Amino acid sequence: MVTLLLGMNSKQEQEQTFAIASEFIKSGKLVAFPTETVYGLGANALDKHAVAKIFEAKKRPHWDPLIVHVDSLEMMYTLASIVPYAVDMLLDQGLMPGPISVLLPKAKHVPDIVTAGLDKVAVRMPSNPIARELIKQSGVPIAAPSANRFMHTSPTTAAHVLNDLEGSIDAVIDGGPTDVGVESTVLDLTTSIPTILRPGGITREQLEEVFGKVNTVEKFSEGNESQASPGQLLRHYAPETQVELIEGTETALVEKILEDVSQMYGVFLPSNWGIPPLDHVVVFDWGNFEDTELLAKRLYEGLRFLESHPVAKIIIPLPPATGIGVAIRDRLIRAAHTY
Ligand code: TXA
Ligand code: MG
Repeated sequence: MVTLLLGMNSKQEQEQTFAIASEFIKSGKLVAFPTETVYGLGANALDKHAVAKIFEAKKRPHWDPLIVHVDSLEMMYTLASIVPYAVDMLLDQGLMPGPISVLLPKAKHVPDIVTAGLDKVAVRMPSNPIARELIKQSGVPIAAPSANRFMHTSPTTAAHVLNDLEGSIDAVIDGGPTDVGVESTVLDLTTSIPTILRPGGITREQLEEVFGKVNTVEKFSEGNESQASPGQLLRHYAPETQVELIEGTETALVEKILEDVSQMYGVFLPSNWGIPPLDHVVVFDWGNFEDTELLAKRLYEGLRFLESHPVAKIIIPLPPATGIGVAIRDRLIRAAHTY
């Protein structure tokens, strides 16, 4: 299969891109597209044959459910048997559209393959204008996981998507690098207190402002059996090179690098930190360590960059567990896990 790279460089090209991409979605094909978090691999969520192709292309196991993307509240209503008031609160507070997916009781006609047989469906209303226009012109909700090979690092550019999936999908829309850089927060709204199943672009602090109290499921799973938060595998979001996490201080990083000078290291170096110039180190300039939003945005770029160098290990300092730092740490802990 030839994978079309669809550009967004002029008004005319944009029109053509949306015409082709929406036609592909309507006819059951696979189109990767940017969202504000990461690139998604989309198919018509109501067409189970189209959705099956997503699992094939990614080599994703069928027990891992997909998020369904909508462009409006009306479309969200068609996917769920109940849309709780909590959704209105997220809309009112400006957190939706945005990097959050909500679990709602599934409407009957949503194919089981989308939810891995569960009775809840994850629905997300992205804020990215390209994602929204694609859904709108397609006229159907779009099921989309991150557009990477299963278990690999999520893509934040069209080039990342092609690296993983060229030849296995019909098209990718190139909308440039994504803004947030880590995936959406998955929030269960079917529980009496909203429950975070996966930390992401919308922070716990932001949700507490809306709901007062929110719960968190701390679940790292090794298995594939049905889980409260399926797909939250311990090893996930992982580059091919071994990742080693260290305490988030400049001193700890320098010590780590000097520990063994016989191996090549890749290093996520905060731009406000310094390390001695060393031959055995390949540096990824991560951004100011205090600017956790920038660290999130550049996280997957850095993993892919260092993975493409002949380094034995990638060393990464852990940002503090506040705000979007929680999501960064979650992804890093999974990336570093080895069996
Ligand atoms: O930001 C994002 O969420 C990106 C963009 C493309 O929207 N998508 C994404 O999808 O990260 P994916 O498939 O890589 O991760 C979706 C995760 C699943 O692994 C699972 O943990 C959770 O969302 N999920 C989806 N449907 C669920 C369900 N019915 N019940 C529980 N968890 C669910
Ligand atoms: Mg993923």
